[in-house]
Amino acid sequence: MKEVRDYISENKQRFLDELIELLKIPSISADLSFSKDVLKAAENVQMRLKEAGCDIVEIHETAGYPIVYGEKIIGPKLPTILVYGHYDVQPPDPMDLWNSPPFEPVIQKTKLHPEGAIFARGACDDKGQMYMHVKALEAMIRTSQLPCNVKFMIEGEEEVGSDNLAIYVAENKKKLENDIILISDTGMIANDIPSITTGLRGLSYVQVEVTGPNRDLHSGLYGGAVANPINILAKMIASLHDENNHITIPGFYDKVEELSKEERAEMAKAPFDLEAYKKALDIESVYGEKGYTTNERNSIRPTLDVNGIWGGYTGEGAKTVIASKAYAKISMRLVPHQDWKEITELFKNHFESIAPKGVKVKVTPHHGGQGYVTPIDTIGYQAASKAYEKTFGKKPVPQRSGGSIPIVSLFEKELGSKTILMGFGLDSDAIHSPNEHFGVWNYLKGIETIPYFYQYFTEMNS
Ligand code: BES
Ligand code: MN
Ligand code: MN
Repeated sequence: MKEVRDYISENKQRFLDELIELLKIPSISADLSFSKDVLKAAENVQMRLKEAGCDIVEIHETAGYPIVYGEKIIGPKLPTILVYGHYDVQPPDPMDLWNSPPFEPVIQKTKLHPEGAIFARGACDDKGQMYMHVKALEAMIRTSQLPCNVKFMIEGEEEVGSDNLAIYVAENKKKLENDIILISDTGMIANDIPSITTGLRGLSYVQVEVTGPNRDLHSGLYGGAVANPINILAKMIASLHDENNHITIPGFYDKVEELSKEERAEMAKAPFDLEAYKKALDIESVYGEKGYTTNERNSIRPTLDVNGIWGGYTGEGAKTVIASKAYAKISMRLVPHQDWKEITELFKNHFESIAPKGVKVKVTPHHGGQGYVTPIDTIGYQAASKAYEKTFGKKPVPQRSGGSIPIVSLFEKELGSKTILMGFGLDSDAIHSPNEHFGVWNYLKGIETIPYFYQYFTEMNS
């Protein structure tokens, strides 16, 4: 392994330069006007996988953006690792809050990243983390240290729900056969507190529309006499939580997995500094479901949050008007055993039922997916744990995350494989926000840690 480490340190500047080149491509999957750039990012990944030494690299067309598939098979009896990641990114807006343009990467020091962090949309989620795997593979192949077979599947629609990947996976089960799936698209607690993500939340995402009168009305002439859809929507949304911040949708908690006292005590051992948390967010107090800690609220408990709300007049100055329509986008984060389609249905029925006479309500489901929990008594987890121990000098802490990667539970269903989530980002890296960044140290640490996972996983499998 010394050869691999030397190779990484000799080539680190190039590894950074190549990532920066990829980060310059605005591959925003949610915005059709960037479709050429999304395709350009796919081609970049294809080229880099070839350069890294894959024997086969293909671009697989879908009804949406293509999937880049690569493989290096060195022995039929050896285990196979399937690496998944995504080359698409979230829209960068609001643009005026970026300190430097989102697609002109710059390296800047921060408190948590004294060695510098790359600032760009996608730096951490997920181009930087995905590219660690490409470089780790290159390092292993060039030094003749690749111990097992590897397949890469990098998609361009993760940020919009992975619909086409789901079809691709179902149609290519044989091609994608593997012993373990490896993903770096999550985070860890801190650079000196390595952790492995053992759970992801599920998701149900819906849009609601409340319609009052058939046209916008003068708020003086009609105000007080007809239902104002914005007032009503605000009231309906407020009623979705009770005074303890429990969600009021009937049946919402029916299938929620309740953790035992022991499991919760185990979770509480993970290092967490509430004061630092509040300070970093500039809040005087945290807020959430009664009876649960902050770390429980954002991982093992389901939630309901408005992600956007609009309607009426929002321009300069004032306009006295009662809008005909009001809208909101709502996400529900789900925990194991909650079925996202069932929850979507419960939401729809409930939301329609609480609408007062005088308005019409429409609920449109967007996308969703199931949660995922990975056991820690598996070879995959143990190999990952050993790899972190080797490169961080500390045993990693297992930690359930609040985020979602819906395709992970589908991998288990379709391919029968478990996923290991080796994330190297920090929560403070601002993914999906202005000034997203990824520590240079984290990037290189990831590249260094991944080959050890390959080595230990192969050893433990034989
Ligand atoms: N990489 C994130 C998910 C993530 C980040 C999980 C950090 C755990 C820790 C992923 O790209 C993402 O943003 N997922 C979306 C869901 C998707 C269906 C749009 C999410 O969690 O909001
Ligand atoms: Mn991601
Ligand atoms: Mn994301």
